[in-house]
Amino acid sequence: MQNIIEIKNATLFQGSTRVFNNLNLDISSACNTAILGPNGAGKTTLLKLINRDFYPVVASNSCVKLFGKERWDVQELRSRLGIVSHSLQQNYSGDTIGLYVLLSGFYASDGIWQHQHFDEIKIQRAHAIAEQLGIAHLQDREFSSMSTGEQRRFLLGRALVHDPQVLVLDEPTSGLDISACFQYLETIRGLMSKRKKLILVTHHVHEIPPEIERIIFLKEGEIVADGDKEKLLNSEQLSKLFDCPINIVRSNGFYQAFPI
Ligand SMILES: Nc1ncnc2c1ncn2[C@@H]1O[C@H](COP(=O)(O)OP(=O)(O)OP(=O)(O)O)[C@@H](O)[C@H]1O
Ligand SMILES: [Mg+2]
Repeated sequence: MQNIIEIKNATLFQGSTRVFNNLNLDISSACNTAILGPNGAGKTTLLKLINRDFYPVVASNSCVKLFGKERWDVQELRSRLGIVSHSLQQNYSGDTIGLYVLLSGFYASDGIWQHQHFDEIKIQRAHAIAEQLGIAHLQDREFSSMSTGEQRRFLLGRALVHDPQVLVLDEPTSGLDISACFQYLETIRGLMSKRKKLILVTHHVHEIPPEIERIIFLKEGEIVADGDKEKLLNSEQLSKLFDCPINIVRSNGFYQAFPI
C-alpha cells in the first residue's frame, strides 16, 4: 500500500474566502476513493491544491505530499497522477486538434507550442489511446468544435498518455447525456480493472462506480465523514451532508438520489 496524497494542516484562501482551515487528508492506494460534497464545499479547490495550482498558507507543521514527496517535476508527477478537471476543459486552447490534445499530455500543457517535439513513439501512443477511447475519428477536429463528452474523452486521453497509476477526476460525467455518461463510466471501470486507482471528486452520486470503496464527505472545507461506502452512501448520511431530505436507491452497485 502506498500513500498517494498526504495533506497536513493545510489552510488555504481563495480571494478573501478561507476554504480550508487546517485540513488533514490521507489517501492511499489501498482503495478507490470518492470525495463527495455540496456546491462550494471546496472540492475543486482541493484538486487545485493537489495539482499545485495553489499552495497552502506557509506553516511549519503544514505539508502537501504526493507519493511521499513535497517537490515534484511536473512531467514526472504526470506519469504517476493524471488529473482531469473542469478548469482544464474551460481553459484548454480551442484551436488545438484532437491528436495534439492527446500529445499535449506529454508536456502537461493546455495546448501545443512550437518548442514541443513529438517523436513517432509518442504519436503512436496518442493514436493507441484514441482507439482505446473511441475517439480516433475525431483526431483531426479542433477541440472547440467537439461536444462536451468528446472533449472530456480527449482530456481523459491526455491524462492517459503517460499511463499514470492514479487518475483524479472532477465531476467526470457532468454535462454528458445518459449514453455518454454510461460510456464514460464504462471506460473508467475498464481502467480500474487494469489496476489504475481512481480518486473521484463529485457532488453527483450517480457517477460513483461500484469499484469505489472509500467515501470522504467534504462540507464547508471540512472532512465531516470518512469511511466505507456501505456505511456512508445512504439516505440518512446524504440528507445530512446536503442539508435536505434525500432518498438513495442502489441498483447494480450504482446509486441514484431522489427527493423525498
Ligand atoms: N476566486 C475566488 N475568490 C473567492 N472565493 C472563491 C474563489 N473561488 C472559489 N471560491 C470559494 O471557495 C469555496 C470553495 O469553492 P470550490 O470551487 O472549491 O467548491 P466545490 O466544492 O468545487 O463546488 P462545486 O460543487 O460547485 O463545484 C466556495 O465558497 C467558493 O465561493
Ligand atoms: Mg467544483
